Amino acid sequence: MNTDTTRIDWVRQSSRLLGAIAVEFESTKPFRGLTIGTGIHLEPKTAALLLTLAIGGARVVATGNLSSTQPETVDYLTARGIEVFAQKTTDAAVHGQSLSQILEQKPHLLLDNGGDLFVRYLDAPYEGLLGGTEETTSGRMRLEPLRQQLELPILVINDSPIKQFAENRHAVGQSIFESFMRLTNRSTNGKRVTVFGYGACGKGVAACFRNAFSLVSVVDTDPVTTLEAHLDGFATPLRQDAVKTADIIITQTGAADVVTADDFDHLKDGVILLNGGHFPTEIAVDTLVSNDLVVKRQVIDGEGIESLHLRDGRIIHLLCHGHMANLAGPRPLGNSIESMDLGFALQARCLERVATGGADKTDCIVPVPTDIDAMIATDYLVLNR
Ligand SMILES: NC(=O)c1ccc[n+]([C@@H]2O[C@H](COP(=O)([O-])OP(=O)(O)OC[C@H]3O[C@@H](n4cnc5c(N)ncnc54)[C@H](O)[C@@H]3O)[C@@H](O)[C@H]2O)c1
Repeated sequence: MNTDTTRIDWVRQSSRLLGAIAVEFESTKPFRGLTIGTGIHLEPKTAALLLTLAIGGARVVATGNLSSTQPETVDYLTARGIEVFAQKTTDAAVHGQSLSQILEQKPHLLLDNGGDLFVRYLDAPYEGLLGGTEETTSGRMRLEPLRQQLELPILVINDSPIKQFAENRHAVGQSIFESFMRLTNRSTNGKRVTVFGYGACGKGVAACFRNAFSLVSVVDTDPVTTLEAHLDGFATPLRQDAVKTADIIITQTGAADVVTADDFDHLKDGVILLNGGHFPTEIAVDTLVSNDLVVKRQVIDGEGIESLHLRDGRIIHLLCHGHMANLAGPRPLGNSIESMDLGFALQARCLERVATGGADKTDCIVPVPTDIDAMIATDYLVLNR
C-alpha cells in the first residue's frame, strides 16, 4: 500500500467543490481542444484548480505571481502534465518573461490575477482568445479602462458576493487570527485589540478576536463604517485613544501609512503590530525601524517577530516586517481551503461559461453571473448538509 501523500493531496481532497466539478468535467470536457493560460499563485490551493481545468480537457499553461511560487507545487503540477513557466522571484522583469511565455502559447482562455496577462495580451494580440476571468479587485480596476480594446468576455471573481463574504469576511479574519496565535503563541483573552479598517476583511478580523475574548475596538476613516462597527457592538474610540491603549494593533485597510512613526510616542509598552492588508505599507515599517528612538532591534530568525527597543524603555513588536501576516512568516497557510474552494469553483464555472459560448463581449469586466453564484452556493450547501 502506498501511504505517501503530500500537503497538496490534502488540499485537493479537502476541495470538495472542485472535486465534484472535476468528476463532472471528466465526462463533459468543456475545455476539450482549448489551451488555458493562467497567472495565479502557484501554491497547493491553486494546484487543485489547475488540475480540475486539465481534467476538463484543457491544455493548461501556468505561471504564478511575483514572489509566491512554491517549488513543490510546480513539481507536483509538472508531474501531472501542467506546463509551468515560472520561478520563485521578486524580480518583476524575470516574472514578466514568464508571463510572456504564457502568451506565446496563444491560450484560448486566460485566468488572470491582477490583470497582468490581459494587459500584456493587448501589447501583442493574437487570433483565438475567447476571454477569461480576473480574480481580483486590483485587476478589475486595471482592466476597466481597457474595455474598449479588450472586447472579450472577462468575468471578475472578486465581485461575486460569495468571494466577498466567504473569503474576505470570514476566511481573512480566521487566518489573521490563526497567524497571530501561530507566530506569537500569545493569548488573546482580555487583550485590547485595535483593528484599523472595517471593510469586509476588517469585519472578520474584529469578529474573530472578539470571539477569542479580546476587547476589540475599531478605527475607520469613514464615519458611516465606524457607525456600523459601533452598532455591531465594537468600541469606536478616537484614533489617538485607540493607539494609546492597544495591546495588539492590526491594519486591514488597503491604504498606506495607517500606523506611522508619529504614533511611536503613544504606543503602549509591549504592543504587537501586524498587518493583514495587501501591501506591506500599511504600517510605515521603514520609518519605524530607522527611527532615532529605536536603540536596539531584535529579530528572531525565521519566526516573523522583530522587537524594537525604544530609548525610554518601551518595546514594540512587529510581525512579518509588516507583510500580510497570514501569508508571510513561518509556514504561512493563507485563507482556509474551503473559502478558496468556493472562489476557485467560481473560477472553474466562469471559465466553462466563456469556453462554451455562454458569455460574449458585452460581458467584458463584469461580475460572476448570478446563476453561477446560485449554483456554487447550492452545491456547497448540499455537500455540507
Ligand atoms: N490577507 C489576506 O489574505 C487578504 C485577503 C483579501 C484582501 N486583503 C486585503 O485587505 C485589505 C482590506 O480589504 P477589504 O476588502 O476589507 O477592503 P475594503 O475597501 O472593504 O475596506 C477597507 C476599509 O478601510 C478603511 N480605511 C481606509 N484607510 C484607512 C485608514 N487610514 N485608517 C482606518 N481605516 C481606513 C476604509 O474606510 C474601509 O472601510 C486590502 O488591502 C485587501 O487587498 C487581504
